[in-house]
Amino acid sequence: MPDDVDERPTIDDLREHMEAESIESEEEAEDFRIRYLGRNQGAIPALFDRIGDLPPEARPEFGRRLNALKERAQERLDAAKARLKREAQSGGPDIDRTLPGRRGFRGSTHPLTQTLDEILRILQGLGFSTYEGPEIETDWHNFTALNFPPDHPARDMQDTFFLKDPPEDEEPRVLRTHTSPGQIRIMEHQEPPIRVAVPGRVYRNEAISYKSFCLFHQVELLYVDEGVTMAQLKQVLYSLARALFGDDVTLRFRPSYFPFTEPSAEVDVWWADEESDDGGQWMEILGCGMVHPNVFESVDVDPERYTGYAVGMGVERMAMLRHGIDDIRIFYENDVRFLDQF
Ligand code: DAH
Repeated sequence: MPDDVDERPTIDDLREHMEAESIESEEEAEDFRIRYLGRNQGAIPALFDRIGDLPPEARPEFGRRLNALKERAQERLDAAKARLKREAQSGGPDIDRTLPGRRGFRGSTHPLTQTLDEILRILQGLGFSTYEGPEIETDWHNFTALNFPPDHPARDMQDTFFLKDPPEDEEPRVLRTHTSPGQIRIMEHQEPPIRVAVPGRVYRNEAISYKSFCLFHQVELLYVDEGVTMAQLKQVLYSLARALFGDDVTLRFRPSYFPFTEPSAEVDVWWADEESDDGGQWMEILGCGMVHPNVFESVDVDPERYTGYAVGMGVERMAMLRHGIDDIRIFYENDVRFLDQF
């Protein structure tokens, strides 16, 4: 008899206890049988023994209720045993195969990765192979070889994260501030002709806001051969922009300055926003230009023989334009409500 049932449990007490029992193994089933139905100390037979103590007129009702309880206990025992047997046979918990299944959570490709993959796919069609350089760069690859003179204010264009305490007689290392050092790494190892796209993550020590984050992604393009012209550069950028934004895209080339290209330009795309009534605006999407002769010289490529163009574009910017996203930080928050939409 359960400990907490007193010497003379009522039928209702006993029923309540019995219904609350869980039967999860053969041992528990046997234990249940002994405690409730067992001929020797079982709680229900024990109550039957007491029928004689009751006044005669109460006995039929008591007997009827006790019988019902006994039947119920037997029913629970039989059901539990049958279930345990099925589970043993199927090798798992008893499940209702007619219930609708639970939906698995489906992941999807991050919108930045989607945009990056798309850009690289288009560029592949335009003849560009892909190269990836290191995220920790030497000061030389990130700046000097790209014609940033030492201590020249041009270095301030990019707020740099420097790695602490370079080992003695080693030059400072930085988290690359752009993918342009990829140009240097390619030309160090490969003779022209070169036609390559360099995707990668870049870092800047900037105040974080809706339009700038401490890391973002760029794709660099480099094409070097004999007789490469700025007209070819424009052509490839139009092809890329049409594939990404549609055939009716409008581009604007603005003269600009970068130490590693001459002449240099920035390219804007005309962005017509249906929701606002100002009609649209120019959005900058990339920098580009003809490779500066000093850059060629730093990697022993003959600037008399070869010319080339270079491009650096921001992947976040492209993704924001494609999807109408107005805050760069949302790419890095991993908010499923955002990511779920892609
Ligand atoms: N590296 C530049 C930046 O991050 C972008 C850039 C401009 C890359 C002009 C180029 C280029 O290759 O030709 O701001």
